[in-house]
Amino acid sequence: MADTTIFFFFTLFSFSSYFTLVLSRTLLLQNSQTTTTTVLHVSASLQKTTQTFPLNQSALQKPKPTSSSLSFDLHSRFSIHRASHNVDYKSLTLTRLQRDSIRVKSLQTRLDLAVTGLTQSDLTPIQTELAADKLQTPVISGISQGSGEYFSRIGIGKPAKDVYMVLDTGSDVNWMQCAPCADCYQQSDPIFEPTSSSSYSPLTCDTRQCRSLDVSECRNETCLYQVSYGDGSYTVGELVTETVTFGKSEEVNKIAIGCGHNNEGLFIGAAGLIGLGGGSLSFPSQINASSFSYCLVDRDSDSVSTLEFNSGIPPSAVTATLLRNTKLDTFYYVDLIGITVAGVNISIETSVFKLESNGSGGVIIDSGTAVTRLQTEAYNAVRDEFVKRTKELVRVKAVELFDTCYDLSSMKIVDVPKIGFRFSNGKVLSLPAKNYLIPVDSAGTFCFAFAPTSSTVAIIGNVQQQGIRVSFDLVNSLVGFSPSIC
Ligand SMILES: *[C@@H]1O[C@H](CO)[C@@H](O)[C@H](O)[C@H]1NC(C)=O
Ligand SMILES: *[C@@H]1O[C@H](CO)[C@@H](O)[C@H](O)[C@H]1NC(C)=O
Ligand SMILES: *[C@@H]1O[C@H](CO)[C@@H](O)[C@H](O)[C@H]1NC(C)=O
Ligand SMILES: *[C@@H]1O[C@H](CO)[C@@H](O)[C@H](O)[C@H]1NC(C)=O
Ligand SMILES: *[C@@H]1O[C@H](CO)[C@@H](O)[C@H](O)[C@H]1NC(C)=O
Repeated sequence: MADTTIFFFFTLFSFSSYFTLVLSRTLLLQNSQTTTTTVLHVSASLQKTTQTFPLNQSALQKPKPTSSSLSFDLHSRFSIHRASHNVDYKSLTLTRLQRDSIRVKSLQTRLDLAVTGLTQSDLTPIQTELAADKLQTPVISGISQGSGEYFSRIGIGKPAKDVYMVLDTGSDVNWMQCAPCADCYQQSDPIFEPTSSSSYSPLTCDTRQCRSLDVSECRNETCLYQVSYGDGSYTVGELVTETVTFGKSEEVNKIAIGCGHNNEGLFIGAAGLIGLGGGSLSFPSQINASSFSYCLVDRDSDSVSTLEFNSGIPPSAVTATLLRNTKLDTFYYVDLIGITVAGVNISIETSVFKLESNGSGGVIIDSGTAVTRLQTEAYNAVRDEFVKRTKELVRVKAVELFDTCYDLSSMKIVDVPKIGFRFSNGKVLSLPAKNYLIPVDSAGTFCFAFAPTSSTVAIIGNVQQQGIRVSFDLVNSLVGFSPSIC
């Protein structure tokens, strides 16, 4: 009798736990379908952290053909600078994050100066010969501008010489290292030689381009420029015009570009920088582009994507209003009004993300910042909701600026809460899981890849933009996000 009872209870228990299991599995699946969670492919993400070393040259992918004739290939830093990647993934991550903090600080400083009405020229009078001494103070790990995460191969001069240039939506002035070098850092292509280009032409001081510079000076009628990046990196030289070639054929003449004879900073092998900002000296402004778009390929991959001009926003894109700061025309702002976690609106005061008329606040979308920065109160609210919904995952200690990390080493795939950016037009951009839960080592530690900032300005970084084509429609003031068109 006793045995039967025990047997009965055991059966009941097994049955009910089996039932609960089935039920919770069903709920989980339903949740996925009703868009509160999304799948993170842990093993696929981890594989990339180990594939990084060594590289498989023959796996180099070619970009898909594009409809735009004004298009450059776009590569991640990783695919260009393979030689220096002789370190483990964790050190690589830590270096990236340190570089990222420097960049964020320099963007914020620039904005603070603009809001308070100062400009760079009030602080740094140009002094070509002295620049090296003046600015050489700790040359920290280099490029804060551009973070140097993404490059294009661009033809400069006549005949065109192809070189790797850093792409940067956070600055305007285009420049390249130029012979004769007073001080040039190492680059992978030969240094540009003005005497071997028939289209090289110095700009005089009374030109519109020269007058548009933040810091300039006139020497012997020629226009000298200087750009300093706040971390010890800088470039000084003369402002000239040159021919820029897309692919093999499409040429644009008379693009104002700095010919830098004195350049300092670890611009990691690139010949210079292409400014994609909103100011009048930026590349899109100079070619009168109606729009431009890029797709930031996985930073740890060899894939190649494109930077395109004048091809508009793809019809399937999630769109948001593009806003501009009246105090500083370089940065592109989006009208983010909220963030969703697992489909739930996180309660954040709408004023937190607002771009004020005095130039403070707002949300910049930037190609050179890696990790999205949110104002501390917004970050805390989003992080808390995410943590609340990932209780079943094993938490581990913080890594650098990431306070929310997990040990996913025992898992192949995991369901994680969806995260979305909500814009003022009601549209929501839902991010792929790998854009906010990223590996920080090869052992299975993943961190929630957002970070808090005490600044009033938020920045949507390139980790969150990976694999999404981001289009800037400069005529209609719209930003488009197309997750499926890379
Ligand atoms: C390199 O990539 C190619 C093409 O994807 C593949 O066929 C080859 O097996 C790979 N080689 C190694 C050593 O992984
Ligand atoms: C100005 O130009 C003259 C003649 O080309 C040259 O001799 C002189 O060194 C130049 N001065 C400076 C400061 O570059
Ligand atoms: C861009 O527009 C300006 C003014 O409308 C014009 O002077 C310039 O030649 C144009 N540049 C190109 C590359 O079309
Ligand atoms: C989130 O907020 C927006 C606007 O306030 C609203 O339209 C939407 O229905 C809300 N979504 C949820 C899931 O509460
Ligand atoms: C800019 O305006 C906001 C909102 O009115 C205000 O809180 C902030 O203090 C102002 N900032 C400056 C630097 O004036």
